Amino acid sequence: MEQIQEQQAFIMPRIGDPAPEFKAVTTQGEINFPADFKGSWVILFSHPADFTPVCTSEFMTFATMEEKFANANCKLVGLSIDGLYSHIAWLRTIKEKIEYKGMKNVEVNFPLIEDIKMDVAKKYGMIQPNEDSTKAVRAVFFIAPKGFIRTIIYYPLSLGRNFEELYRVVIALQAADEFKIATPADWQPGDDVIISPAGSCGTAKNRMEGKEKDLDCKDWFFCTKKLDKDTVLKKILKKV
Ligand code: BEZ
Repeated sequence: MEQIQEQQAFIMPRIGDPAPEFKAVTTQGEINFPADFKGSWVILFSHPADFTPVCTSEFMTFATMEEKFANANCKLVGLSIDGLYSHIAWLRTIKEKIEYKGMKNVEVNFPLIEDIKMDVAKKYGMIQPNEDSTKAVRAVFFIAPKGFIRTIIYYPLSLGRNFEELYRVVIALQAADEFKIATPADWQPGDDVIISPAGSCGTAKNRMEGKEKDLDCKDWFFCTKKLDKDTVLKKILKKV
C-alpha cells in the first residue's frame, strides 16, 4: 500500500495526455475537472502553501491579470495542499491587507482547490519528493478546450513564475492551432512564424529556389513567414 502511494507521487502526466479527471472543493464551489471547463483553455497551477510570500506575490499577479487571460478564452484554477478555510482566510488577507508592486485590494475570483489529501496533486505530478514531500511544487498545466494537456512547466518552491511568459504560452499555443505554424524562440505576436519543414526533396528545392513567394528560407529546413500582429490578435482575443 505504502509503495503504491509512493509511486502515485511520481505519476507525471505528459504533453498530449488527456487532463486527469477529478472532482474537488474550491473557493468558488465544487468543480468537476476538466469537464466544467470544456470550450475554454485552462491554466491549472499549484503553489506550495497559503500564507507564504512568493505565493502571495504570484496570486496577486495572476488575479490582476485574470481578465487578460479571460480575453484569450483562458480560465485559471489554483491548487495547494491546504484546506478550504485556510484558502479563504489567505485570500481575505490578500484583499484586505496586502499591497505589493502597486497592486492592492486584490480579489482572487478564480477557484483555489483544497487538496489536503494530495489526491489532485499526486495525479498531476505536483508532489516532487526531492523538492518537498508535503508541498506542491509550482506546476503549470496548459489545457486546451477539448481537455488535452498542451504545455507543462514546473518551477521549484523558491522561484516565482513569470506571468507574462504564461500569457505568451497561451497566445502562442492558440496561434499554432489557428494558423498551423510554429513559433520561434521568444516569439511575440507580430514576429515572423515558422512553417513546417519541407517534407520532400521537391518542396525543399522549390523553397531554396524562392518559388514559395511568401517564405523567407534560411535553409531548406528553416523557413519563416510574416504573420501580422492584428491578424493573430483578432483571431485569438475576444476584444482587441
Ligand atoms: C513562498 O511561497 O514564499 C514559499 C513557499 C515554500 C517555500 C519557499 C517559499
